[in-house]
Amino acid sequence: MTNTTIGSVRFDNVVKKYGAVTALKKLDLSVEPGKLVTLLGPSGCGKTTTLRLIAGLEMATEGSIHIGGEDVTHLTATYRKVSMVFQSYALFPHMTVRENVAYGLTVKSVPKAEAAEKAENGLELVGLKGFGDRLPSELSGGQQQRVAVARAIVLEPEVLLLDEPLSNLDAKLRRHVREEIRQIQQRLGLTAVYVTHDQEEAMAVSDNIIVMRNAEIAQQGSPHDLYEKPNSEFIADFIGDANLAPCEISNYAKDEATIVLNDKKLKVPYAGTHKGAAKLVLRPHHLKLAEPSEPGFEGEITYAAYLGKEIQYTVDTEMGELFVVSSVVSNPFAIGNRVSVQWDNAHTRLVTS
Ligand SMILES: Nc1ncnc2c1ncn2[C@@H]1O[C@H](COP(=O)(O)OP(=O)(O)OP(=O)(O)O)[C@@H](O)[C@H]1O
Ligand SMILES: [Mg+2]
Repeated sequence: MTNTTIGSVRFDNVVKKYGAVTALKKLDLSVEPGKLVTLLGPSGCGKTTTLRLIAGLEMATEGSIHIGGEDVTHLTATYRKVSMVFQSYALFPHMTVRENVAYGLTVKSVPKAEAAEKAENGLELVGLKGFGDRLPSELSGGQQQRVAVARAIVLEPEVLLLDEPLSNLDAKLRRHVREEIRQIQQRLGLTAVYVTHDQEEAMAVSDNIIVMRNAEIAQQGSPHDLYEKPNSEFIADFIGDANLAPCEISNYAKDEATIVLNDKKLKVPYAGTHKGAAKLVLRPHHLKLAEPSEPGFEGEITYAAYLGKEIQYTVDTEMGELFVVSSVVSNPFAIGNRVSVQWDNAHTRLVTS
């Protein structure tokens, strides 16, 4: 299990059409060996299509696909060194756990004893040593999903593909299994492409996230980059909570813009060259509430929820409702209190589309 081959994935101008439907418009993407990259985006944006194209379960209408440097554009699934973990586990109910894990090896005519040994190693890897003789129905949902991961990994794929692998699990188990998948991927140095529409899950497991929208890439980068440097209103809103305050860019210089926000002039970080209407991205935990006599934007608390380690406020201001997350839980503000909303301009971001 230690010599699992790692491979890169590259799409050049890949188009996928299903009849009149364009599921992918000229997609360029690149996954580095040993990294876990997530395809994240709303339903119907083309995530599963991208995964199936990597697997060879669908063929590209245009463009080329490389895996581990090899042009696999015209190779079918059988000839690609990838394995896929499905949302539904797809375990064989009448086979034992060990037989399920060994199944792909048996199909590839690996000798029985060797297949059984590899299956045993695979089960140990996912923390299911000793479960080999059970039937899938004798396991919990999380354990079944781990069997599905073991079954994919024992094939020693160059690329491991996972399509919403956690969606059948409850919230607590989802977190546990996603941590396990990430640990196994890192320990084996596997290249993995992971599909989800859950942004928190994507942030938690990924080296890089590719956010898709309407059959194309909206933005890609590390979880940190996407959160701190969204390039559009869509990304700012999709990755983490954001308040989007309408403003006007009146001027810009090298790394900074002067904006007008409710009659106040502010200087904020900006690298673009657009004047006029924009939105200022204000993250809820970057906002601070102070007494109304202090400088800032005036508002009134309309909602307050105490959550133990933080308080979530809704504040009605001239620029609209703001969602504020405060880690100061002593002496909270109450509904109806007048407040001044403050932030550090260095923590803001302008988006213009
Ligand atoms: N076999 C098919 N025939 C025709 N259209 C298809 C086919 N498979 C997918 N599509 C269409 O292609 C687009 C992308 O589908 P895809 O399954 O890749 O979306 P997705 O991002 O995985 O969505 P979800 O989050 O709902 O799983 C959708 O508009 C879908 O209706
Ligand atoms: Mg899908």
